[in-house]
Amino acid sequence: MEYIRLGKTGLKISRIGLGCWNYGNSNPRWGKPGKVGAEAAINIIHQSIDKGINFFDTANRYTGGESEEILGKAIKGHRDKLVIATKVHGQLGPGPNESGQSRYHIMREVEGSLRRLNIDCIDLYQAHGVDWNTPLEESLRAYDDLIRQGKVRYIGCSNFPAWVLAKALWVSDVNKFASYVSVQPNYSLVNRAVEKELQPLCVDQGIGMVLYSPIGGGILTGKYEESIPEGSRGAEEPEVAERAMKLQDGVKVLKRIAQELGKTPAQVSLNWVINRPAVSSAIMGVSRVEHLEDNIGAVGWKLSEEHVKQLDEAFPVS
Ligand SMILES: NC(=O)c1ccc[n+]([C@@H]2O[C@H](COP(=O)([O-])OP(=O)(O)OC[C@H]3O[C@@H](n4cnc5c(N)ncnc54)[C@H](OP(=O)(O)O)[C@@H]3O)[C@@H](O)[C@H]2O)c1
Repeated sequence: MEYIRLGKTGLKISRIGLGCWNYGNSNPRWGKPGKVGAEAAINIIHQSIDKGINFFDTANRYTGGESEEILGKAIKGHRDKLVIATKVHGQLGPGPNESGQSRYHIMREVEGSLRRLNIDCIDLYQAHGVDWNTPLEESLRAYDDLIRQGKVRYIGCSNFPAWVLAKALWVSDVNKFASYVSVQPNYSLVNRAVEKELQPLCVDQGIGMVLYSPIGGGILTGKYEESIPEGSRGAEEPEVAERAMKLQDGVKVLKRIAQELGKTPAQVSLNWVINRPAVSSAIMGVSRVEHLEDNIGAVGWKLSEEHVKQLDEAFPVS
């Protein structure tokens, strides 16, 4: 495994992280049940640790809190080697204060995440989206207090447009609050929207990008070319399969490059994204151990300039 600094911090994270969004399939208290049960998820997490992955991402909202609980159980005995990231913001219930980033909600929710993860400090606490109803000053002061209280080590954000992140950096700067050190956007060959504004901001400000859906939810494995495999995300979410059909031409180029290199399409697409400017880590989703074994092969080599050019042409920025 290779490790890299998270943005301009001194914290080192693995170039590939594991996302735990889909872990936990018992009755959720809020949100949707995931696809992978606790036992299988713990096995995937343990195998990831064995392969040198040290960066794990979850959220208070995922699978009604069960995702955090599963991660908490799996990391017992390994916690000191790992970087644990979670998030706050998503709707947890019908109440007016059960979402967002008011001081009230952040202060309550951090306790819930610490309890479910069974740890005493969250390494990276991320705003899961923009809260348009709370002033950035209020949220950032609350996050700053959590760092001072030793409950959180670093803060990051997710799904922020570039202008909101730029404003948040300014608010932290003028108030001497802790600043966001990372941003978590959707970024892959099939979703390059961040390249217009967010990525240049991250390069300029030393913000680490930790990406979600780096394999396009499975599209970039090439598995949808012939048919929709049973049990795949495309089988459960028709829009994924439809998107895969539309992107067939690009996926053909990806597959050809993978064949030339003796790699798999997932490895090539992950290698492309982790080597883009400002990218610290790609948070992959894994529903079976075989995916992990495949995807881990994305690290330790680099695509040639010629292959990068061909991929750029096959998957243009839209
Ligand atoms: N901040 C946010 O708003 C946000 C949003 C979404 C996700 N996330 C984070 O990002 C993580 C990853 O998101 P994602 O699941 O969309 O990422 P992804 O890595 O693009 O897609 C993962 C899915 O692709 C399929 N797959 C992965 N590797 C494969 C392989 N080698 N061969 C065949 N199929 C393979 C599996 O789905 P199937 O087996 O089901 O086909 C797997 O669940 C989440 O767990 C979460 O932590 C954050």
